[in-house]
Amino acid sequence: MSRRVAPPRGAVALVLALGLAAVAGCGATEASPPDAGAVAPPDAADLTGFPPMVVPADNPTTAAGVALGRQLYYDPRLSHDGTRACASCHRQDRAFSNPTTPGVLAHINLAWSRNFLWNGRVSGTLEDAMTMEVEGFFATDVTRLQAPDLEVLFEDAFGSPGVTTQRAAYALAQFQRTLVSADSRFDRYARGDLDALDDAERRGMWVFYSERAECFHCHATRLFTDNEFHNIGLDAEVAGTGRGAVTGEARDDGRFKTPTLRNVERTAPYMHDDRFATLEEVVDFYSEGPVDSPTLDTLIHLGGFGLTTEERADLVAFLRALTDDAFLENPDLGPP
Ligand code: HEC
Ligand code: HEC
Repeated sequence: MSRRVAPPRGAVALVLALGLAAVAGCGATEASPPDAGAVAPPDAADLTGFPPMVVPADNPTTAAGVALGRQLYYDPRLSHDGTRACASCHRQDRAFSNPTTPGVLAHINLAWSRNFLWNGRVSGTLEDAMTMEVEGFFATDVTRLQAPDLEVLFEDAFGSPGVTTQRAAYALAQFQRTLVSADSRFDRYARGDLDALDDAERRGMWVFYSERAECFHCHATRLFTDNEFHNIGLDAEVAGTGRGAVTGEARDDGRFKTPTLRNVERTAPYMHDDRFATLEEVVDFYSEGPVDSPTLDTLIHLGGFGLTTEERADLVAFLRALTDDAFLENPDLGPP
């Protein structure tokens, strides 16, 4: 069967997408870090359907480690000039993105990421990503962090005195592993509460998981990202942009990291260059806007997926059902 032949309203695809995810549900137990006394991140999240979370053996998630990471995330002493914290640009009410800082990527379920930043400049574990961030922030000069209140937290977290860049990065990685969003209305629907989505949202879900709109191939699994890079046809001229700027390979030009769609209602403006202000504009783009270039993804239809006005509205309604208020308002993820 050709991929282009839509199954009845995408039913097969939906069953596959949700069904396979359910099989992987045992992964929830693998989310627990190996150490006794360690906390599973986060305690309350139902990770049914998520892929297993990989926690490096040398950085198990502990309550004291998370507490230090959270303190550092909100602490301006982390920055060169002592004026900015991570949270200055990454705001919880915006799913840890920011409407006014250009191109900020949200922090949602990054525990499952292996590629970081729009062009994948950093790959590996969260520890690698946080090391890059911390070094970028204070260029490995930790003197500002050698304050009594922080020294106590470092000792609690790592069992011996010492303030180092690596410890700061590892603690930030532990805190990141608690930024788990898994309780949107869509999640509740997928767990069996069939009233969690209204009619428009359910229709939008069928569009999302249909071969006509292709969304679920890239915004894949419960993470709503395949953690890969694609050129979705935003620009005709792509030489040296996106992933290509990192690898130097022409075949990577114009390819950017697939962002998760969880909480996407809160992460405007959209795309790596913030070119769309609203979800309606994004859906209009996919419906009629993609332009050709040498690396255009084969899943993208030139000239768009041709969705009807009603399908577009339904799709936007579905995207809004991915908002997870428990995540956006969880006091444990806010300033300490
Ligand atoms: C001045 C604003 C600003 C501050 C402060 C800031 N970030 Fe960011 N962050 C950004 C922007 C912009 C991006 C996207 C950049 C890109 O992809 O090229 C980003 C991306 C990221 C990503 C990649 C997310 C992904 O999906 O790949 C991580 C992780 C991250 N930041 C962590 C941090 C941490 C940790 C701190 C504090 C040490 C921090 N950021 C401070 C602006 C900021
Ligand atoms: C070929 C893979 C692919 C397909 C198919 C796809 N997307 Fe995307 N999507 C991406 C990538 C990659 C980006 C980021 C592009 C960029 O910024 O250059 C993105 C960005 C987005 C954004 C903006 C998110 C943000 O935080 O900026 C939304 C919303 C979105 N897609 C929704 C959809 C919907 C709805 C569909 C189906 C109609 C869809 N996507 C189909 C790969 C894809």
